[in-house]
Amino acid sequence: MRPQEIIAKKRDGEILTRGEINSFVRGITDGTWADYQTAALVMAMFINELSADEQNALTEAMLDSGERLDFSDIAQPKADKHSTGGVGDKTSLIIAPLVAACGVSVPMISGRGLGHTGGTLDKLESIKGYNVNLSTAEFKRIIKECGFAMSGQTAEIAPADKKIYALRDATATVESIPLIVASIMSKKLAENLDALVLDVKTGSGAFMPELSGAKKLAEALCRTGNAFGVKTEAVISDMNQPLGKYVGNALEVYECVKILRGEIDEKMQPTLELSIELAARMLVLCGVAETISDSKSQISNAFGSGAALEKFRQNIELQNGDAKVCDKPESLFDENLIQIEIKAEKTGFVAEINASAIGECVSKIGGGRIKVSDKIDFAVGYECAVKLGDEVKLGETLGVILCRNAAQADSIYEKLANAYKIEDEKSKREFDLIKEIINIKSQFKQAEQAEQN
Ligand code: URA
Repeated sequence: MRPQEIIAKKRDGEILTRGEINSFVRGITDGTWADYQTAALVMAMFINELSADEQNALTEAMLDSGERLDFSDIAQPKADKHSTGGVGDKTSLIIAPLVAACGVSVPMISGRGLGHTGGTLDKLESIKGYNVNLSTAEFKRIIKECGFAMSGQTAEIAPADKKIYALRDATATVESIPLIVASIMSKKLAENLDALVLDVKTGSGAFMPELSGAKKLAEALCRTGNAFGVKTEAVISDMNQPLGKYVGNALEVYECVKILRGEIDEKMQPTLELSIELAARMLVLCGVAETISDSKSQISNAFGSGAALEKFRQNIELQNGDAKVCDKPESLFDENLIQIEIKAEKTGFVAEINASAIGECVSKIGGGRIKVSDKIDFAVGYECAVKLGDEVKLGETLGVILCRNAAQADSIYEKLANAYKIEDEKSKREFDLIKEIINIKSQFKQAEQAEQN
């Protein structure tokens, strides 16, 4: 079938066959489909959506456009975590060493930050020398030696996704659940995992702000992972405020090292809580713990004994980074930065925090990317001094900008001050970090309910 016939079929709301979807993905990969034809089909998919079969066929075709990593010579179970992206979202740096310390290998392929959200690779590169561009052979060797490795996506993994994603970004077709699922899962399934835990964010800093949308996305991701034989669960977590204490690459690494060292303060507590929840699920899905409570006690031992911190140190050395950060986390701070405090303009209770505005401000002063080609200043960032529900007094510090000069601070001060809504009365709203768990049991329940209706 010619591209225009496949496009017309989807344009008219018909269901594409597996063969037609394969032909589309082959065409993107070998260049026989023009970008405008791909963009047209993606728009038709965006508008008319995809059936579950079409979505699975697209995921599989995109997965098969590249290589699948072969870990058959690694005896340990393999698990990964994927987050849909947020502000101050740094749990990967805690989860990977923690889970590895509990006997599960973690082949973690991560991305870079864009727009208001950060990326694990940028955070890791704030550790002097840390190499995130590993070949497949290096990636495997490091996993064998220390239980986990963290690297960027190679050109061989789901190359069709790279091309489709770039066109979706340029044609306003990113926010489509079946397309997001095929994109994320084609890359994660290439890791040949036993288990996958998804951290699907909801709230002002998430790309699915509404809980209903996040839930739909989480369910679709879990359904697809399980259909491909990877035990998959999702945690829907709150992104109505930055996660934990810091936003900004080196600052976030600092927060993670402090947590791994057991030197945690109250503002870092949500980072630890979410990391434990996600890691615990990875261990249970892999069968190294029977229940979440067993899993949490293994995790507590891995923290308490210093095993998780030692795994992180070993990994940093193997990826050519300066492991001194594990002993002296303060070495991640740049002494040349200036600090400007954002002050509360009234007395009351913190009722709302615009997390994406905070992420955008950090990007604007160099802590993130507005365009893919932008260079990052790893040191700059923001310290969150108050959290949702906190009581604040007029003139109290809401947060601290860490930046290079006064002009940078001036350029974001007002937006940051406006990111906080302070109300006279304490809100009755719950500010729960963990909103919902989508697991295999809840998926069965939904299927049963759908059958009964
Ligand atoms: N992240 C991805 O990798 N793909 C999407 O489509 C959206 C977010």
